[in-house]
Amino acid sequence: VSRSVTGIVLAAGQGKRLKSDFPKVLHPAAGRPLIAHVLDSLSQVELRDRVIVTSTQQEAISDAVVSCGYPEGVRYVVQDPPAGTGDATRVALDSLDVSDLDVLVVPGDHPLIARRTLHALIRIHQENDAAATVLTAHVKNPAGYGRVIRRPDGQVERIVEERDADEYQRSINEVNAGIYIFDAAKLAAALEKTGRTNAQNEYYLTDVIEVFRADDEEVIAHLTDSPGDEIGVNSRAQLSRVGELIRQRTCEKWLDEGVSIVDISTTYIDATVDIGKDTTIHPFTFLEGNTTIGPRAQIGPQARIVDTEIGEEAVVSFAVVKGSRIGPQTSVGPFASIRPGTVLERGAKVGTFVETKQTTLGEDSKANHLAYLGDADIGRGVNIGAGSITCNWDGREKHKTVIEDEAYIGSDTMMVAPVKIGKRAATGAGSVVRGEVPDEALAVGVPARVLEGKGNRMAQGTDDEDVQQGE
Ligand code: UD1
Ligand code: CA
Repeated sequence: VSRSVTGIVLAAGQGKRLKSDFPKVLHPAAGRPLIAHVLDSLSQVELRDRVIVTSTQQEAISDAVVSCGYPEGVRYVVQDPPAGTGDATRVALDSLDVSDLDVLVVPGDHPLIARRTLHALIRIHQENDAAATVLTAHVKNPAGYGRVIRRPDGQVERIVEERDADEYQRSINEVNAGIYIFDAAKLAAALEKTGRTNAQNEYYLTDVIEVFRADDEEVIAHLTDSPGDEIGVNSRAQLSRVGELIRQRTCEKWLDEGVSIVDISTTYIDATVDIGKDTTIHPFTFLEGNTTIGPRAQIGPQARIVDTEIGEEAVVSFAVVKGSRIGPQTSVGPFASIRPGTVLERGAKVGTFVETKQTTLGEDSKANHLAYLGDADIGRGVNIGAGSITCNWDGREKHKTVIEDEAYIGSDTMMVAPVKIGKRAATGAGSVVRGEVPDEALAVGVPARVLEGKGNRMAQGTDDEDVQQGE
């Protein structure tokens, strides 16, 4: 039987190179904090327990971890002050019963660790009953990484941090990927034997390799074949690059799943998004958070969609849509702002320069141009004329507008809430409506007066100062 494995995530480093007031692992790549990407990777292997080593900013990290979908099954230990990766690992081990246990140690700043890498690492380690198995990678540019020093027979000898390496060692391009699995009891003992006499005055986790070697323990260096495992984020430049890589992988995944993406270099899809088959994503589109898009939809160009459900065959272009439900066969935009709480039922249409908020637009209802619909409950087959507005705010409170099935709202109607417009009722252009318009009734506003001969004075060449133009 294989031993149980506990995952340890090292996340207490200050991330000095990021020059940030926030913990490094909370910086997002492709819309998700680095630590969440790491937990996503860990969730693909069977672990008895997960321990995150944090600094004094533990609360900020645990809040983020919970809101990223890990409400339970994660424990936290505090390393204060951070004194290196070896010290961080020791703090985690102190909180565990190390007998008969393996620990999988991963850095909190590696968002691209592949599932098969973790599987391979655990398997190789346990099959060989090793004390330590370290993941290594061949990279073109090894700058910043610890270098893997192997003996002539190929066995790993030790790992040298860049800042402690000589010129020859720096030229080695097999690097420590920072991902390891250890026999927990042996690791605890080995860490005792490490010191901090190095360029950074830190306890290095990497130093245990040498300790194990000296004690004739089995140490395996496993070279990864999944590009990305070794990619850590130490700088803002790397953060940006990693975000790009994740987005590229996400787009490639959706291309594989039957989604068309016109230009992946301008398409930003969070890892949390779901998209149906035969949907096309046009350029400059942002799909964020808890968003799902049905099949055969057309999204973009220029759409930002956040926490929204979009139905099949919907068309959304040049629009910002947040916290809403956009039904099947609907159309949004160009130039629409769909704010939280909007529901568009099947076939509804929201067109140019329309803003909605906390509003339901029933089946086949349309607001094609220039409207504000807030706190409104709009039935089926309603037409909202251009320039119509729900006056939902009286200066103190919000009020509701109800528009029933098949009503016709004439252009530039001001609906002063609370107001209810009945079934198949209508309002005249420019009307100001309050209270209740009964079913089938027509509410008309005050039409403008006609003053003969007082038209365009400039064109007429008259000069009458008593009546101002436009009055
Ligand atoms: C580390 C490795 C290096 C490897 C590289 C892979 C060591 C000494 N070096 O270097 O060999 O090639 O990762 O990316 O391990 N952390 C703590 N407490 C601390 C210090 C760090 O929890 O006191 C955490 C950090 O938050 C980070 C992780 O450990 O998530 C790695 O630390 P970092 O400083 O980024 O190490 P690297 O310089 O990248
Ligand atoms: Ca790092």
